[in-house]
Amino acid sequence: MRIYEAADYQGMSRRAANILSAHVILKPGCVLGLATGRTPVGAYRQLIEWYKKGDLSFSETRTVNLDEYRGLGPESPQSYRFFMQEHLFGHIDVRPENTYIPDGLAPDPDAECRRYNEVIRSLGGIDLQLLGIGRNGHIGFNEPGRAFELETHLATLSESTRAANARSFPAGADMPRQAFTMGIKSIMQARRILVAVSGADKAEIVRRAFTGPVVPGVPCSILQLHPDVTLVGDRAALAALRETGARICG
Ligand code: GLP
Repeated sequence: MRIYEAADYQGMSRRAANILSAHVILKPGCVLGLATGRTPVGAYRQLIEWYKKGDLSFSETRTVNLDEYRGLGPESPQSYRFFMQEHLFGHIDVRPENTYIPDGLAPDPDAECRRYNEVIRSLGGIDLQLLGIGRNGHIGFNEPGRAFELETHLATLSESTRAANARSFPAGADMPRQAFTMGIKSIMQARRILVAVSGADKAEIVRRAFTGPVVPGVPCSILQLHPDVTLVGDRAALAALRETGARICG
């Protein structure tokens, strides 16, 4: 595993964007696995800037997102489809038909999970999967305790995840209790994984993820078993990991 530390969120975002853009430049038709949450927003902003300068084109790139809330459609400002449109897709030349996100309004969840697995397979798998980490160690919406071998499935959100994500919903709004998510197995099949972390509230889970035991109670700990993981973080998020003596590049 490679670990890169930046001084702050902006530096971390720039480093993550560098790695994403390198993939797009070297293989324009690559399949990028994308994530939502606060963490990747700065990297997406940087990619948009490079696209606008003419340094980058996504015209052949395919994207598959990790997850989507059940019950929310593209018009809902809290849906991840809406988020991706707002923070990336709406500002670059990626073709809408090349962007894949689970359909939160799908009437038959099992069929939707099968469809999404088939989408990933038909694209030839994911070249680079971008991941954030939830404070309880979740990746996508794979909550602690779920089996590592799952592919796309309907997950029940833990109370801590619902509390953490409530900030994206208007006060008093009924937050979804379930979400479609790629499973750990789907994530682990990506050829490369880029984990982005920022802020002191992630420091402890980052330490446990990469130096603790690989256990379903800490879903992101499975990443220790992936052969090609790059972790980019700001100083605050990597502080506890650094204390363990982990080798960190500047
Ligand atoms: C959500 C997403 C995750 C994301 C996590 C962390 O639960 N499903 O994919 O990694 O939030 O979000 P943030 O980056 O805002 O800390």
